[in-house]
Amino acid sequence: MQTPVDATTTPSWNRLTELSETFRPNLRRWFDKDPRRAEMLTFTAGDLHVDLSKNLVSPKVFSSLLELADDVRLKDRIEAMFTGERINTTEDRAVLHTALRLPRDAQLVVDGQDVVADVHEQLDRVCEFAERVRSGEWRGVTGRPIETVVNIGIGGSDLGPVMIYEALKHYGKFGLQCRFISNIDPTDVAEATLGLDPETTLFIVASKTFTTLETLTNARLCRTWLIDTLTERGAIPHDGGARDAVAKHFVAVSTALDKVSEFGIDPQNAFGFWDWVGGRYSVDSAIGTALAVYLGADRFRELLAGFHTMDQHFRQAPFEQNVPVLMGLFNVWYTNFLGAHTHAVLPYSQYLHRFPAYLQQLTMESNGKSVRADGEPTLYDTGEIFWGEPGTNGQHAFYQLIHQGTRLVPADFIAFANPTHPLRDGDHDVHELFLANFFAQTRALAFGRTAEEVRESGVTDEVLVAARTFEGNRPTTSILAGELTPNTLGQLIALYEHITFVQGVVWGIDSFDQWGVELGKQLAKELTLAVEGDTDALAGQDSSTRALIERYRQLRG
Ligand code: F6P
Repeated sequence: MQTPVDATTTPSWNRLTELSETFRPNLRRWFDKDPRRAEMLTFTAGDLHVDLSKNLVSPKVFSSLLELADDVRLKDRIEAMFTGERINTTEDRAVLHTALRLPRDAQLVVDGQDVVADVHEQLDRVCEFAERVRSGEWRGVTGRPIETVVNIGIGGSDLGPVMIYEALKHYGKFGLQCRFISNIDPTDVAEATLGLDPETTLFIVASKTFTTLETLTNARLCRTWLIDTLTERGAIPHDGGARDAVAKHFVAVSTALDKVSEFGIDPQNAFGFWDWVGGRYSVDSAIGTALAVYLGADRFRELLAGFHTMDQHFRQAPFEQNVPVLMGLFNVWYTNFLGAHTHAVLPYSQYLHRFPAYLQQLTMESNGKSVRADGEPTLYDTGEIFWGEPGTNGQHAFYQLIHQGTRLVPADFIAFANPTHPLRDGDHDVHELFLANFFAQTRALAFGRTAEEVRESGVTDEVLVAARTFEGNRPTTSILAGELTPNTLGQLIALYEHITFVQGVVWGIDSFDQWGVELGKQLAKELTLAVEGDTDALAGQDSSTRALIERYRQLRG
């Protein structure tokens, strides 16, 4: 393992610190002085057109950030990831989600394992299964074809499939729908099974470890629901029908195939992946089986090809034109030198309404760390808080704070030139009204409105002048693509995977473990006894937790 470089000891970090001390960004002036700023800071990554010019980055900051990338040996770290070095050090694992989208003729052998052959073997199985379900060849226990696929999973085994399902809804098979169950709140199962016909429902239990409490509990609830509802309507016999029903209505995705068969799912109906795929990086593995069924094998492969396009850009483009590298470095600049804590992601695409939620796991589970990979504490901030909503909804909710609040909130704006639904309102193409908002917001955030301009607009009361003045210099990145397709979506997701990696490298952390979620899981197990009324377990709790549980039990009646 390569010891992480402590970025704060590098000359570039010192240089950036010095620059930040006297940094007075002025996008108006920068754009006026340099008519080529937009051109110079706009890049192409695959099919994504990425304008970085409205970021608070001067030429000196830009070059110092590139030096920082060299100082922390980013190039070597990228190669280490792509070639299967065990860069997830706390779990002693390789990190090879990029191998999931390698073309069939690529070559990657890690520890004697032909990774590409393994990946394609599973991918072929998933695709073949997906086509059997779509064509109606795969039938439920009463002989009817599948109409609803219910994915049961949580975290990375849910957020990616949901986000992509929502994003690519338009590309799905007519007459087929997906539902998703993640929360252990029993409401989730109750609502998701409401109105479902068990004879035409297929459950996919998706869990990397196949030990996750939420997923296994929900899977058992769904199994009971399936058997009970089929039995009630006389579709299966009271005795002995359950096994067949589970075989026809349950499949699983996991790295732990032994646990899948313990659960009662036929290993023939299980799709595997590997410990070198992190949960939040797994949507392009068999975890995407629900998507392969809904979208079809060809579109699922297009999605993977999109990921691969961005992987190649990340691995090959020189850093000064490398979009994930630059976006990651800019985020470091905002976080560690300009004091930003959060980062907004604002898709001008209703289809991407779950993209911010997806990114929350990707970025915050990856980079929410305060210990470096060598065990030393990080003496600097890590892990921005990602959040967002689709435009224009966000405009009428929280943009006020981004425009005129006291906090610095870098924001990524994402849009597609061609609408999936080209609707008109009278003379207007509604998509153009929509995108005019995108351009208006990014312009207003960058350039604001001076007090002088407010006065010129006829406002004379100085209190109102102050209230209506926009300082500007609110940084944004604009990402534009031609159309929201499986391929462009794959590119977009991989872009953020790599941005996350770049930041993790600069911060010297292991972006691929998630020990921070373990304690809560452990305590929840322990506290279940207390919640269920075990007095000894209750007595062992702190006074606040004990009183809360007691109150809960009183209220529960
Ligand atoms: O939240 C912790 C976590 O381990 C995530 O990293 C993971 O995506 C999720 O739980 C679900 O895990 P599994 O796929 O093993 O059920």
